[in-house]
Amino acid sequence: MNNKTDTPVTVIGLGRMGQALAGAFLKAGHPTTVWNRTASKADQLVAEGARLAPTVGDALKAGSLTIICVTDYQAMHELLGASDIALDGTILINLTSGDSAQARDTAQWAKERGAHYLDGAIMAIPSAIGTAEAVILHSGPQLDSEVYKSTLDALGTVTYLGADPGLASLYDVAGLAMMWSVLNAWLQGTALLRTAGVDAATYAPFARQIAAGVAEWLPGHAEQIDSGSFPAEVASLETHARSMDHLVEESEAVGVNAELPKLIKAMADRSIAAGHGGEQYPVLIEEFGKPRND
Ligand SMILES: NC(=O)c1ccc[n+]([C@@H]2O[C@H](COP(=O)([O-])OP(=O)(O)OC[C@H]3O[C@@H](n4cnc5c(N)ncnc54)[C@H](OP(=O)(O)O)[C@@H]3O)[C@@H](O)[C@H]2O)c1
Repeated sequence: MNNKTDTPVTVIGLGRMGQALAGAFLKAGHPTTVWNRTASKADQLVAEGARLAPTVGDALKAGSLTIICVTDYQAMHELLGASDIALDGTILINLTSGDSAQARDTAQWAKERGAHYLDGAIMAIPSAIGTAEAVILHSGPQLDSEVYKSTLDALGTVTYLGADPGLASLYDVAGLAMMWSVLNAWLQGTALLRTAGVDAATYAPFARQIAAGVAEWLPGHAEQIDSGSFPAEVASLETHARSMDHLVEESEAVGVNAELPKLIKAMADRSIAAGHGGEQYPVLIEEFGKPRND
């Protein structure tokens, strides 16, 4: 991944994720300084060659760039907010999970203290860190330095999303929306089929095929959404809505949960009532793009 392994790195926060991040830097050969509120969590990393800084301030001074990964933004601000903590000139990459407003506010806060701030999100479990499966998103004003990029490569597949520091958090939740929607759809189908004695393992390959086929539609649907024009080239929303009725009725008839099918149908009904029944499915973006206010 990376051959620039001599860049000194600091990792602040050694919970499950922070330990994995520091471990990956060490493994890639980076001189790695660590700090954690509970110092004993650094023991294993120190045994592997990390240096334990005595204070957060010392930890910040040690690396060319600092990764912070703690529970939440409040913990981050408690740690770095003290007046005696100098952030001037620091490259600070915050991989703590949070929302886009927290990311943008924290970027402004860090800028006022002279730090180069990037906000990130980790879409991986700790054991995947350091492998290509670990997706690390980050965003914020781009740095001139290429060093931080080659250094971050030690953590996994690292993607820069743009200058808005809120983007990494937004992509994070957008990805989670995708994940839970696919999983919930699969569970709905599984619940239906189990009433006829079909087990989950039998249904899984079929569900996978459907999910992969639907994923192929996304670029075309994205074109419609981005152009704001939704001609029903394949099927109208009204045609979809009639099939949604079957899903609701079948779920109720066989005695499985019908909440998700009803929600899907209710959104389509609202769009049809607004005059979009003759357009194609992605016209529903207009329902998704606003809060429900009835
Ligand atoms: N674990 C995952 O699978 C995963 C996946 C993606 C993203 N993340 C994100 O990564 C971040 C860390 O998660 P984690 O799994 O490492 O959590 P964790 O194991 O619970 O560790 C939390 C870390 O935050 C520190 N901390 C909490 N409050 C603090 C405070 N007020 N002052 C100083 N330090 C404080 C803890 O220090 P002490 O050790 O002293 O308590 C510890 O280092 C979270 O934002 C999480 O959403 C985690």
